[in-house]
Amino acid sequence: NWTPAHFVTDTVAALKEKIGDRQVVMALSGGVDSTVAATLIHRAIGPNLHGIFVDNGVLRKDEFQSVLDTYATIGLNVTGIDAKQRFYDALAGKSDPEQKRKVIGGLFIDIFQEEAHRIENVSMLGQGTIYPDVIESVSVHGPSVTIKSHHNVGGLPDTMHLELVEPLRYLFKDEVRRVGRELGIPDNLIDRHPFPGPGLAIRILGEITEEKVQLLQAADDIYVKALKKHNLYATVWQAGAILLPVKSVGVMGDERTYEFTVALRAVTSVDGMTADWAHLPYEFLGYVSNEIINSVRGINRVVYDISSKPPATIEWE
Ligand code: XMP
Repeated sequence: NWTPAHFVTDTVAALKEKIGDRQVVMALSGGVDSTVAATLIHRAIGPNLHGIFVDNGVLRKDEFQSVLDTYATIGLNVTGIDAKQRFYDALAGKSDPEQKRKVIGGLFIDIFQEEAHRIENVSMLGQGTIYPDVIESVSVHGPSVTIKSHHNVGGLPDTMHLELVEPLRYLFKDEVRRVGRELGIPDNLIDRHPFPGPGLAIRILGEITEEKVQLLQAADDIYVKALKKHNLYATVWQAGAILLPVKSVGVMGDERTYEFTVALRAVTSVDGMTADWAHLPYEFLGYVSNEIINSVRGINRVVYDISSKPPATIEWE
């Protein structure tokens, strides 16, 4: 019978055996899978695991620092790389969704390789691959393959000739979460919603600027904090705000405004393949709308997305 405790004991022993005294490098994303995988590897080999966490400029508000702080609490050896400006420069003028994904994925690989090369004698690559990733990447369904190519922090090229270490390869998400709790990883990290690798870049429709990132971070932060405060966060599978490339007229005091619109999205789902829009209470939506419009200058209108997948998708890009 499978228990998280047995899994941890067996896996740590097997990792020790497999890795020996070799050095492992791993890209961390702040997500559940990579954090649980890294913690298991860390239990086995301690500081010979070298984590790399890149700030690509399109993370959620304050996420870079808070994730690094959590890693420090767990005891992981992680280097945080502030690469915001490189990403903004590379994204400038790009408005096509797939092009934005390509730019972000490509630059991420460059930066990861630069950092990995600084580590002496590194010969193994840790990854938080879980069982559904394994199945999806061998399936022939076009769209899921396309998505997977950008998924998480995987998809690193094999030009580095690193041997893979994937301790979660046979687990489902709920099992990963149970293992994470067994390892003492804080709940706030274990229970996080999924967040796409290209981050807020695919929630800012059209061209990305640093100013737009800040606007969206502010609105998204209000939304997510409110979901938590009203005990709604755990009832939805994923939620976030989207900055629309639409300005509309509003009125503030006795002044006319002409500002951006934010769409709020929240869905219920099992695996992200299909999803229903979440029936959040009107009172709650009204509260969030007021908070955003009153405190984020540059946004004067908030709408709620009531589309399900299919035919819509969870993300807008
Ligand atoms: P869609 O929008 O296709 O999203 O309904 C389904 C799930 O996949 C996530 N998603 C991505 N994750 N890179 C990722 O790492 C991507 O390019 C990407 N596109 C969508 C999305 O957030 C949702 O959880």
